[in-house]
Order: sequence, then C-alpha cells, then structure tokens
Amino acid sequence: MGEKGKLLDFLGRSVLFKNLPESDLRKISLMFETIDLPMGEVLFYEKENSSDMYLVLEGKVRASLFDEHGNELVLAELGPGEFIGEMSMIDQLPRSATVIAQEPTKLAMLRRETFLKILRDNPDIAINVIKALVARLRRTDDMVEALAFRNVESRIVKFLVEAGRERGVMEEGKYKLRKMTHRDLASRIGSSREAVTKALKTLTFKGIIEERGNFWLVSPDAEEDIDP
Ligand code: CMP
Repeated sequence: MGEKGKLLDFLGRSVLFKNLPESDLRKISLMFETIDLPMGEVLFYEKENSSDMYLVLEGKVRASLFDEHGNELVLAELGPGEFIGEMSMIDQLPRSATVIAQEPTKLAMLRRETFLKILRDNPDIAINVIKALVARLRRTDDMVEALAFRNVESRIVKFLVEAGRERGVMEEGKYKLRKMTHRDLASRIGSSREAVTKALKTLTFKGIIEERGNFWLVSPDAEEDIDP
C-alpha cells in the first residue's frame, strides 16, 4: 500500500474521520501533508503563533508546560489516531503547550483553512472533534483533582495504577511497569524530582510499591492502602 493508501486506511479508523464515506475520505486524504519528526524534536513551542492541526500517524508526542527552570508538566501524551494543535486551529490564539516527539513520529498536517472547510462540509466530523475535546477535558479535570487534593505519594500510586491498567502487564497479581527516571515521573504528576525521590522511598518502605530490577510492581488496588 502506498503512502496515500496508508493514510486513507488510517483516516477511516481514526477518531475524527471514522464512518465517513470513502469518497469523502479520499478527498480529505489528499489535503494532508505528512511530516517526520525525529525523537526529541519540537513540533512547536507554547505561545508560538501558528494554527495548523496534526494527526499522529505513527509514534507519540507530548504536550507539556515548562517553568523558567525547565521543569516539565506533561498535559498529555498523544499517539496514533489522535490529533494535536486543534486549540490554536480553532481560536487562533498562541499555542497552549509545547509539543515534542517522544519517539520517531509521523504526522499528517492540515492547514487551518482546509480543516475549517472540512468541518463546515461534514458536521459529523465537528461532533467527533467535540467528543474528543470533552474526553480531554475529563482527563484534565482528573489531573486537576489529583494536583489539588492528593499528596505526592498518592499521585504516584494513582499514576502507576492507571499506567498499569493501560499497559496490562501483570506479574503475581500486580502491574509490572518499567521504571522511569524520578524527573520523568515528576513531570507526569506535577511534582519535583526531589519530592518524587522521597515519596518513592516511603512507598517502597511501606511495601505499596515493590522494586524488582528495572521494574516497579504495584497492586491494582494500591490506592486503598494510602491516604490522599
Ligand atoms: P494548541 O494549543 O494548538 O497547541 C498545543 C496543543 O497541545 C493543543 O493545541 C492541544 O492539541 C494539546 N493540549 C493542550 N492542553 C491539553 C490537554 N489538557 N490535554 C490534551 N491535549 C492538550
């Protein structure tokens, strides 16, 4: 299958474009430009003025906020079938976050005017966009809840249990997760490297997290064992 054929097949299975007639998909697929991003490359920076939208075809990108010391807060990781850059595309305000490739990544880019025309012509796609935005708002609410009401230990356990549930690798009835650096874990739960190091020590001491070589083991109901 050629590059355009692959894109067509992909669009037909993506959140935004599924259930569209093949003739419409074919037209839409011609409007995308594909872009390859090496791992670690920035697609765009927070506050930048640009308004194109992208669909992830392969790989993974992160939308993050950085403070003046370079500390990162990861808002979302987006993989194949998900879109990125829709906020500035819709309101034409500067980018709300910095987007960086987490692995070698292939994206399909749509110019703002082209996407707006597609939305006008296909109300079903506009509904799919709204559904996807609502799902992101729910995930963000969940993150705000954790930042406001949970301590660092509780946030780590919540993050690991959710990651374990998504990846689904079990050992002795526990989720088995490859260890992350403390800095990386801090950027996923909105904390500092130092606070994460301290909290992990407490959690392993209490047996809530078990270290096994390069992996952490955590029980699916570990959240019941800690105070928020
Ligand atoms: P935009 O503001 O154009 O550029 C940054 C992008 O990061 C943004 O569009 C969204 O695609 C994405 N993004 C920003 N905040 C979130 C969030 N809370 N959840 C998921 N994606 C987000």
